[in-house]
Amino acid sequence: MKINSAEFVISNSDVAKCPNTPLPEYAFIGRSNVGKSSLINMLMERKNLAKTSGKPGKTQLINHFLINKNWHLVDLPGYGYARVSKKDKKTFQKYITDYFLQREQLVMGFVLVDCRHEPQSIDLEFMQWLGEQQLPFGIIFTKADKLKPNALKRNVAHYQEVLLETWESMPPYFITSSSKGYGREQLLDYIDAVNTDLEH
Ligand code: GTP
Ligand code: MG
Repeated sequence: MKINSAEFVISNSDVAKCPNTPLPEYAFIGRSNVGKSSLINMLMERKNLAKTSGKPGKTQLINHFLINKNWHLVDLPGYGYARVSKKDKKTFQKYITDYFLQREQLVMGFVLVDCRHEPQSIDLEFMQWLGEQQLPFGIIFTKADKLKPNALKRNVAHYQEVLLETWESMPPYFITSSSKGYGREQLLDYIDAVNTDLEH
């Protein structure tokens, strides 16, 4: 998919206030600092479209971006962000889950996981929850530039093994690096194919 335009639309904490259009929508979710916002910038080839930070907890709202004027990409706050009060943390969780449960335009969520780490229970639990809600999702391994090719292969294979203990098949998955641009075409082409399917 060629990117002709990418515009920030709106940030909010209320799913009811998300853009009221029928455009198909894809959302990035995952632990804080995993690289959700950076991946949006990489895909769109824009440095500061989505705000990024070395400190966890940068994205705190539901952010809509309009791509090629015909689909939305959504940047969500990270789950598992510990440095907020208990009350705020609950608020994050609720508007994340409300977003997934109520947003009818959502075609697919992508759960981002850092390729360097062992499968984390919070991610596996979130995928489990998505499955129970029958919400389609894919997995995006991030920060692939941080591992040597063999270690990367090993970690991805290990992740698959762990998932296949509870899932019948592996969801679509992508290996990416926002600093090197890895995985850009595969992910954009995948979204393009899903969008095309939806039109027919
Ligand atoms: P929250 O908004 O806090 O939930 O975080 P986020 O998931 O949006 O992460 P963000 O994109 O802000 O990136 C967090 C940190 O990881 C930043 O310091 C990025 O520069 C770094 N980072 C993100 N993607 C990559 C990558 O592919 N490679 C490397 N080396 N660093 C990355
Ligand atoms: Mg972010």
